[in-house]
Amino acid sequence: METEPNLIRLIELAKAASKKAYCPYSKFQVGAIVVTESGEEFSGCNVENASYGLTICAERNAIFQMVAQARHRIKLVVIYTPTKEPASPCGACRQVINEFATGVRIVSACDSEKRIDTTIDHLLPGAFGPNNLGN
Ligand code: THU
Repeated sequence: METEPNLIRLIELAKAASKKAYCPYSKFQVGAIVVTESGEEFSGCNVENASYGLTICAERNAIFQMVAQARHRIKLVVIYTPTKEPASPCGACRQVINEFATGVRIVSACDSEKRIDTTIDHLLPGAFGPNNLGN
């Protein structure tokens, strides 16, 4: 389990990542940090496109940074949004988190003290995943 000081540090990193968001359409800056089972950290921000549907969320961006470094096991995802209420990852990101997860903790933070502190199993029960392919 992460210590509270480490979690606060990770939330600050997610906030720093959000500042790099490319979001000229929504103007909604999101930052995410994924922590691997071995403790490595990868960051991501949302990247939008003039063809709106091609937008990639901060969470998936961070996960793809991780995969590009050949890491495949996530233990924690930390998300920051510049809001008064914390925001949960979207459905597409839940599915991608699940791909690399075993009991992943997901913490959403924002500009108030409020947090959502949950797990991928809670956010995506009964998920279709790699095991369903029989590999
Ligand atoms: N977004 C994320 O980056 N993560 C989420 O979990 C939800 C939404 C982004 C996508 C888009 O650039 C903007 O926030 C508004 O939906």
